[in-house]
Amino acid sequence: MLLSISKMQAMLLNLVLASCVFLSSIKDGNAGITSSYIRSAFPAVDIPVDHEVFAVPEGYNAPQQVHITQGDYDGKAVIISWVTPDEPGLSYVQYGTSKDNYQTSAEGTVTNYTFYNYKSGYIHHCLVDGLEYNTKYYYKIGSGDSAREFWFKTPPEVGPDTPYKFGIIGDLGQTFNSLSTLEHYLENHGEAVLYVGDLSYSDEHEASDNGLRWDTWGRFAEKSAAYQPWMWNVGNHEVEFLPEVGEIIPFKNYLYRYTTPHKASNSSSPLWYAVRRASAHIIVLSSYSPFVRYTPQYIWLKEELARVDREKTPWLFVLMHKPLYSSNVAHFMEGEAMRSVFESWFVTYKVDAIFAGHVHAYERSYRYSNIDYNVTSGRRYPIPDKSAPIYINIGDGGNLEGLASSYYDPQPEYSAFREASYGHATLEIKNKTHAIYHWYRNDDGNKVAADSLILHNQYWKQSGMEAE
Ligand SMILES: *[C@@H]1O[C@H](CO)[C@@H](O)[C@H](O)[C@H]1NC(C)=O
Ligand SMILES: *[C@@H]1O[C@H](CO)[C@@H](O)[C@H](O)[C@H]1NC(C)=O
Ligand SMILES: *[C@@H]1O[C@H](CO)[C@@H](O)[C@H](O)[C@H]1NC(C)=O
Ligand SMILES: *[C@@H]1O[C@H](CO)[C@@H](O)[C@H](O)[C@H]1NC(C)=O
Repeated sequence: MLLSISKMQAMLLNLVLASCVFLSSIKDGNAGITSSYIRSAFPAVDIPVDHEVFAVPEGYNAPQQVHITQGDYDGKAVIISWVTPDEPGLSYVQYGTSKDNYQTSAEGTVTNYTFYNYKSGYIHHCLVDGLEYNTKYYYKIGSGDSAREFWFKTPPEVGPDTPYKFGIIGDLGQTFNSLSTLEHYLENHGEAVLYVGDLSYSDEHEASDNGLRWDTWGRFAEKSAAYQPWMWNVGNHEVEFLPEVGEIIPFKNYLYRYTTPHKASNSSSPLWYAVRRASAHIIVLSSYSPFVRYTPQYIWLKEELARVDREKTPWLFVLMHKPLYSSNVAHFMEGEAMRSVFESWFVTYKVDAIFAGHVHAYERSYRYSNIDYNVTSGRRYPIPDKSAPIYINIGDGGNLEGLASSYYDPQPEYSAFREASYGHATLEIKNKTHAIYHWYRNDDGNKVAADSLILHNQYWKQSGMEAE
């Protein structure tokens, strides 16, 4: 039951500008909502490469496509990445706690690669570590007249009651819908992005334009990603296995350009890893890497879940690309393989929520599981389960493939709300028991949340205060 306690309801009304849809979902209890909202989307085509959102910064060899991600396990480091187009240039980052006073510098690495007939620019990655918590840092990259300056803020020290506001974005691409999503997210002032896979959709272009569309996406995302960490995750559009043009190394474009702090969580691959940030432990899984028993990802996840300390990080979230629960016609049941392997762990460890993309629409589940099924006998239907995560599918960033607008009917019992619109979400952790979640559809601007709920922490949930 959603918010059975009147005090909670009052609090919700104070804190949340709830939509009619949300209020009706309280009234209807467990009956799921299939939203009939009619949206007015921009066409699902990529923005032309000469548009200003992809503008190349001025100056010879000026750094471009600047993006940062968390650089360690607990948030005292960032990895700063950028591309210089003309020559390798310096891989230094100068940084400091006030503007124009860059007391410290760190040296990174530079690399380049080819993809079919494309030659990349010079891609720099620089770890900046040993930072103070909860501090604004300014940084400068490039040299002379072409140098560029940015800033970021480190998170508070990892601890149980530390508030923090995450944004959640998936399947973004580079259309005018993508731009709308990014702009709405910027207006909502999240502090870090949990990204659920499928970045540029470059593989939808001719192989000869593929690399160029990674470059345009890098410049497109910079206005957020240069200033706050995006926790990267791969989707199917990062695989780019193209034997017809001789490109047979999966994730090649992605891995040269985007980096993750996987070693800090003892992962053997940048494609799956974990970070702790403020009061959250975030586990990132690769839907497109082996995950069955005995594989590196399986072994790692088992160990990582055992490392989670809910006394220190009460909130436990998992990111993946393919949803485990989805009632959309698109990509139906593609998550079943991973569900059969990992779902019982997610229930055992009381994961708070699982965020996925892949399906270009929005759907949120109640707490359901289907873990008793086996092939000799047993149940076949998902059932309400207080220990189960909430599944949120948010592959609605706005890429060139358009919306996935057909759902299977009747709406399954586990499905609480579903709508084929573009948008993004925010997750505001208040303390160790409460977090406020909002999904914003682009059409309504950043003021109206089309789906909202209070998440009651699965580990610290008090009896009599069951959520969802
Ligand atoms: C990387 O850049 C160097 C220097 O410009 C060039 O000689 C080399 O061919 C490039 N490597 C690849 C893989 O493109
Ligand atoms: C990773 O493994 C090393 C060596 O076994 C260990 O010292 C370290 O604590 C581990 N890191 C984490 C995050 O568990
Ligand atoms: C299969 O599932 C049924 C019902 O949940 C259970 O009683 C049985 O023990 C399971 N069999 C095995 C081998 O786990
Ligand atoms: C946690 O945050 C919620 C929502 O802001 C608030 O109602 C509750 O009193 C807080 N709990 C504690 C222990 O501060």
